[in-house]
This record gives sequence, C-alpha cells and structure tokens, in this order.
Amino acid sequence: MAGKTTLSVIKADVGGWPGHVTVHPELKEIANKILKNDGVKKKILKDFYVTNCGDDLELIMSHTLGVDSKKVHGLAWDVFTKATKKAKELKLYGAGQDILSDAFSGNIKGMGPGTAEMEFTERAAEPVAVFMMDKTEPGAFNLPIFRIFADPFNTAGLVIDPSVHDGFRFEIWDIEKHKMVIMNSPEEMYDILALIGAKERYVIKRVFPKKEHPKLGSKKMNEPVAVISTDKLYEIAGEYVGKDDPAAMVRAQSGLPAFGEVLEPFGFPHLGSGWMRGSHNGPLMPVGERNAKCTRFDGPPRVLGLGFQIANAKLVGPVDLFDDPAFDITRERAQRVMDYMRRHGPFEPHRLPLADMEYTTLPNVMKKLKNRFKKVKD
Ligand code: F6R
Ligand code: MG
Ligand code: MG
Repeated sequence: MAGKTTLSVIKADVGGWPGHVTVHPELKEIANKILKNDGVKKKILKDFYVTNCGDDLELIMSHTLGVDSKKVHGLAWDVFTKATKKAKELKLYGAGQDILSDAFSGNIKGMGPGTAEMEFTERAAEPVAVFMMDKTEPGAFNLPIFRIFADPFNTAGLVIDPSVHDGFRFEIWDIEKHKMVIMNSPEEMYDILALIGAKERYVIKRVFPKKEHPKLGSKKMNEPVAVISTDKLYEIAGEYVGKDDPAAMVRAQSGLPAFGEVLEPFGFPHLGSGWMRGSHNGPLMPVGERNAKCTRFDGPPRVLGLGFQIANAKLVGPVDLFDDPAFDITRERAQRVMDYMRRHGPFEPHRLPLADMEYTTLPNVMKKLKNRFKKVKD
C-alpha cells in the first residue's frame, strides 16, 4: 500500500461506573457503533478497537488522514459527547468529566480528551504496542519509554544489534513552560535523565530514530517510533478535574527494540503520581483488559497493554499483553508496594509534595487556616 498509516489513540473519562472504577459497557457500545457506522463505513477510519483502562474510554483508531485530522477528531468528539449523554441518563459518576467545551472546533486537543497519534510508513511487518494508564499522569511513561529506547540493561538490542546500537532521539516537553527539546541518546543520556527524572514537569513526547538509521532509512528519520499523550487537564480546566491518565504507542522490531524489550520495563511496578484524588504516589500495576478497573483506594494506578500487527492500516489484534503469568510477580510486588505506601496514610511521600497538591482540593482546606497563623517570636 502506498502512502502512510496513522494510528490515533484518543481517550476521555466521560463517566465512571461506579465512582471512578471502570467504564459502563453501554458507553463502549456507543463508541463501537459510531466508529463502525460513521468511521469505517464512511471511509474515515480503516479500523478501530474500543476498550477501557479504569474509567477512561479508549478509542484506538487507524486511518490514512494524518495526525490532527479534523474528521478523526470530530468522530472521537461525537463518541464522547454521545457517550456523555448516555452517562448522564445512567447517572454515571462524573458524567462528561473530560468534556470541557460545548463546541468542537476542528481539533480535540485542549478540549479535555487525551490524544496520542503517529503517522509512519508501514514496514514489511509493523508490530505496535498500545499502552493505556489510569489514575496517573503522562510523566509515568518517562521511565518505561526511557528504558525501552535508552537503557542497555533493558534493551539487549542497544548492545548487540547493529541496527539499534546507534540509539534514538528523544523529544522532551517542558509542560510547564510549553517548550520542547530534542536530545540524543546515548550521547546525552545523563542530560536526558536530568530532565525526565522530574516527571511532573518534563515528559517524553516522542521518540525518533537516529539520522542514519540502517533499517528505517534516513528519509524516515522524522517518523516517530513512539508517542505519548501529554495533555494536562488541570491547565485546560483551570481547576482539578481528575488526572490526565495517559496513553502511548510504541513500534517494535527490525531496527527498533524487540516486542519483549518494549514490554520488559513494565515488569517493574515503578511509582507514579495520581491514585486517590490525584494526590498520591503508587505503583503502576500491569493488568489485562479484564482487570483494567481501579478499586483499592481508587487504584492502584494501572497500565494496560495491547499488541497489534498493522496491515495496510488495519489493526490485526489485539493481543492482551499483560494478561500473562509472566507479569504475576510484578502484580504481586505492586500489591506489596501498595500496602507499604498505604501505611503512610496522609503523610508524604505517599501523599504528593505540596507543590503538586496545588492543583488538587487541598488548597481549599489550607485557606481557612491562613488567619490562624501568628508570627514566631523566637
Ligand atoms: C483520581 C480520581 C478519584 C477521585 C476521588 C474523589 O483521579 O478521579 O480518586 O479523585 O474518587 O472523587 P470526588 O471528589 O468526585 O468524590
Ligand atoms: Mg473518573
Ligand atoms: Mg481515569
């Protein structure tokens, strides 16, 4: 097939069932119907898959219209507004939570839902992993994405495969100052880590091959091999309306990290911020679709992984990647960490540091104490 393929993951929390646990099946049904009848049948989409991670409705769509397509974004907007209507009927919790505007103006970015999109030339075989997280934020992808593309202890190919050995380029966003920088790994690895270790502020947005990538070709150097959603809901809404539960896509194999190298970092349940009231650190637990629901203390934060082969912009899959005993030990470890963290109750570092609590409901509690403070004399 000539031309390029685009993968778009667009997600939103349009109502939880119950509370912030999961998505009601009727909302997924609405999404499936609209994407089939108005998407595939009207030749906007080539293919799609609807799922949920926790209370987020996730639309995985393939097409050939490029990123930021008005038609594709419009379709997603239609799904979220109609699903919101149903969520209101069922009195689901926080119905329409991530729909922050009444009118669609051509691009869904900045309107509440999260987006991760990439356009690329399909290789002879094109394996892609789609990751979705609930009860955490975009910076939670920094550690696994760094390890996939830059850590030789994770990705054997960086050491032993000449076509991966040169490393990758990272596009890193400063989400506070709305700036970005492109950095090379391994040359600038320590500088990259200096930034992305501060995951609340610096987030990996995309990863690209190096200029002379032997298998993808120099012409393809501007085609991303990974992309992460970086939407910050509180900045859009101006007040706390839930976390910016992120999604990401990673291409794998032949000149890129192998599929197993892409999954390997999720064998460690690293800490992410979010969880209860978007205010706590907790372990990212990898789960299959049937367990992609947030329960204990509204969590713990979860990551769902689906694998596809892309064939002429069709999604061949999904394979439920973490629905596998190979991740049982990670889940058990996550539960032990969860238990340990919970014992801290309202204390940091379980609760987030004050600077990160600024966007939660805590400042409203602090306000009333303001006038009680007196000067310390000695
Ligand atoms: C976390 C999340 C939940 C809610 C919590 C309180 O992202 O959405 O943990 O913050 O359940 O929700 P409200 O204030 O709506 O009762
Ligand atoms: Mg919710
Ligand atoms: Mg959510």
